[in-house]
Amino acid sequence: MTRLLFMLVLGAGMTFPAVKATELTTGERVFRQWCIHCHGEDNSGPGTLRLAWDKGEDKSLLTERADLGREYIRFVVRRGLDEMPSFRITEISEAELNALAEFLGR
Ligand code: HEC
Repeated sequence: MTRLLFMLVLGAGMTFPAVKATELTTGERVFRQWCIHCHGEDNSGPGTLRLAWDKGEDKSLLTERADLGREYIRFVVRRGLDEMPSFRITEISEAELNALAEFLGR
């Protein structure tokens, strides 16, 4: 019983995200759901690493880029780019993609 309670408490603790979902914009939420594990800020994701390698450290983080156009982002997300997979409309809807492009692009 104690063990069950412990597991419940542990389980409940894990469902609390660091930032509440309601505080995020749609674009940021989509980025966290689909992109952050490759384009995260800890510099270990394949997207961040690849961009640092190809384009330089200052271009490695999507969230800090000011040179990416929204149309380009939409294109890359739907088509993929080399090692980056493409994303279907059933994964990221058009509305979500627009919000994502707004969040990342200029
Ligand atoms: C499985 C890992 C992975 C995921 C998930 C991923 N990417 Fe990428 N992304 C990459 C890699 C690797 C590259 C570099 C491609 C290359 O040039 O070889 C890249 C490149 C890009 C570029 C091109 C940047 C430039 O300078 O031209 C954009 C834009 C981009 N990703 C956006 C996204 C967005 C938005 C998402 C989420 C919907 C996402 N990526 C999800 C791996 C990923």
